[in-house]
Amino acid sequence: MSAEPVKQGISDIRRSARLSVAPMMDWTDRHCRYFHRQLSRHALLYTEMVTAPALVRGGAVHLLEHDPAEHPVALQLGGSDPAELAKAARMGQAAGYVEINLNCGCPSDRVQSGTFGAVLMRQPALVAECVRAMQDAVDLPVTVKCRIGVDDQDPEEVLPEFLARIVAAGCERVTIHARKAWLQGLSPKENRDIPPLDYDLVRRMKQLFPNLHISINGGVARLEEAAALLDGGLDGVMIGRAAYHQPWDILGTADARIFGAAPPQPGPEAAARAMLPYIERHLSGGGRLHQVTRHMLGLFAGRPGARAWRRHLSEGASGADAGPELVEAALERLAEAGRDAA
Ligand SMILES: Cc1cc2nc3c(=O)[nH]c(=O)nc-3n(C[C@H](O)[C@H](O)[C@H](O)COP(=O)(O)O)c2cc1C
Repeated sequence: MSAEPVKQGISDIRRSARLSVAPMMDWTDRHCRYFHRQLSRHALLYTEMVTAPALVRGGAVHLLEHDPAEHPVALQLGGSDPAELAKAARMGQAAGYVEINLNCGCPSDRVQSGTFGAVLMRQPALVAECVRAMQDAVDLPVTVKCRIGVDDQDPEEVLPEFLARIVAAGCERVTIHARKAWLQGLSPKENRDIPPLDYDLVRRMKQLFPNLHISINGGVARLEEAAALLDGGLDGVMIGRAAYHQPWDILGTADARIFGAAPPQPGPEAAARAMLPYIERHLSGGGRLHQVTRHMLGLFAGRPGARAWRRHLSEGASGADAGPELVEAALERLAEAGRDAA
């Protein structure tokens, strides 16, 4: 794979956004994204959320480091201060990201205390100000990831108003996690499962805002479901947990099924081997094997030998001198277990 950045125009990004991998803290780090990029050349990838205060006040520019081969990648920012977000967006543009996304969906306590994430669903005027400030600061698309509402809000009422405000502020693309967040009483994990999904409301938003590129998110477990949502008129589907836990089933078949393009790898074994040069580079720079391979544990999910692969890789990878040969050995175990099962 080329190490040159993929120069993407806005129409290319809109096309990539037909299928995206959700921003996920501690999961979609640079190693995960590099791995996902071996599986799909076209899907849009998102960083973990990076807070604007960490970048602007904390000077934590290392949080922006990534490999150009990961592109197209969008940077997700957390924050609610328009001027600070504008500065952070500029830093993201300088670092090479193709889109800046504002997190209005994350319900965690830590995030609530900083007034960002899902609590911003209550402050559409402030979100619009943030979007406008970021859009004025960069030449990239500024997008928003939101919920359908929070707590006792009526999504039928607040979601159209929220969208109208951000559209007026210059946002042309949004991802809607199709459930409420309950800010009191539910953990972030419960907030990804318990509030019911309302896909119909998101579909109605597409009718109400025909020019807004709308991606739906939440509970999509199989690529076929994503294809059906696209066929039903939505512009994009964002997948989180399923893409992480079953990366081959979702991303390995996405280029053929969603983008009408040749898949980069013929199968999951080849995808594992495609990671070896990257792993070698990472190790020679002082990194640990586990930092990369922890994202690859689900590569054979649902296939014979998946457990042997997962076990061999997870048990061996944290050793200080674990190297790429462990990946080859785990592939051997997978093949043996597959033969035993046959
Ligand atoms: C481990 C984990 C971390 C997450 N971190 C973020 C985050 O940083 N920003 C964000 O907007 N959403 C975050 N989310 C929510 C996902 O982006 C997504 O909206 C949610 O998982 C629902 O999609 P899914 O059902 O396809 O997983 C996180 C989800 C998980 C599982």
